[in-house]
Amino acid sequence: MRAVVHRAFGPPEVLSVEQAPAPVPEADELLIRVHAATLTAVDSAARRGEPLPARLAFGPLRPRYPTLGADCAGRVEAVGANVRDFAPGDEVVALSPRFGTHADYVCVPQDAAVVAKSAALTYAETVAVSEGAMTALPFLRDAARLRPGQSILVNGASGSIGSAAVQLAAHMGAEVTAVCGGGNADLVRSLGAHRVIDYTAEDFTEAREAYDVVFDAVGKSSFGRCRRALRVGGHYLTTVPSLAIMGQMLWTGLGRRRAGIAFTGLRPPRDRARDLVHIRELAESGTIRAVIDRSYPLDRAVEAHGYVDAGHKKGAVVMRMSEED
Ligand SMILES: NC(=O)c1ccc[n+]([C@@H]2O[C@H](COP(=O)([O-])OP(=O)(O)OC[C@H]3O[C@@H](n4cnc5c(N)ncnc54)[C@H](OP(=O)(O)O)[C@@H]3O)[C@@H](O)[C@H]2O)c1
Repeated sequence: MRAVVHRAFGPPEVLSVEQAPAPVPEADELLIRVHAATLTAVDSAARRGEPLPARLAFGPLRPRYPTLGADCAGRVEAVGANVRDFAPGDEVVALSPRFGTHADYVCVPQDAAVVAKSAALTYAETVAVSEGAMTALPFLRDAARLRPGQSILVNGASGSIGSAAVQLAAHMGAEVTAVCGGGNADLVRSLGAHRVIDYTAEDFTEAREAYDVVFDAVGKSSFGRCRRALRVGGHYLTTVPSLAIMGQMLWTGLGRRRAGIAFTGLRPPRDRARDLVHIRELAESGTIRAVIDRSYPLDRAVEAHGYVDAGHKKGAVVMRMSEED
């Protein structure tokens, strides 16, 4: 099989497409023939080995996960002796706890989040609609506890997490203000944003408006800067970890304006599987949709990483394994 491999941290050029034997599933694993997988800001950070504290997860000196890619949609090729719920031929969407989906085949444990794929969605749509929503949903539902009628500002509304957050927040009955570059205003309005702020022309932290929730999906702000944009009882949430936000989360816990972060990849696999099903249902009913910026064949991984590194993608970038995918 082909796999995109990196053996050192660095720019996209550290990647190469190598031939390797397909993995063999352990007793509790499924072997999946990958058809589509997203390439995300997390893959980009894992390849660069930055920021340095992230090396605890990605490997202290050299990459712990030579092949990246944390999700996939594909077809079950083989199953281990203890796997009961899936059989060869099943179409699935899966989250891989050890990366590895930027390859023709990947093995994932059956108790990682693996669920049946919707027949109504393509492989690319399946991973694209799940990727951002798997992070946005726990932030809005569990951390912010967003309620109908509340106001939310989503910063970075045109990215993977932001575009999912806009759709989910609108679905939850919130009044949504989306912050993105002016060129993405029509996109975020089409996703359900009631108001759009072009961050290149206006700083939302300087405006008079205040919100129940400020969700910084791309981590470009800070609690200190956003305090004035929060109503009393309001909640600031960011996706990007820092020492500051960890401290602020502790000391604002009982305060009038709270700050917080969540680590959605650390949630129990069973909860993540339940969310994958919920997101599938929302997509099947047309409540949320996939936003696919570009899709790249596996052989153009270097170019694809360069595009994601630039930080201006709209929704998801998808790696596809063949011309038909
Ligand atoms: N905590 C967690 O559990 C968790 C889980 C997954 C990911 N993350 C983190 O979440 C972050 C965001 O991920 P993502 O996949 O949504 O990113 P992304 O898709 O790469 O975001 C790109 C978007 O951000 C917008 N943007 C760039 N600079 C901006 C600014 N200053 N203000 C407003 N918007 C700006 C861009 O719009 P323009 O083109 O208009 O600039 C672009 O559309 C990453 O750092 C990732 O590591 C955290």
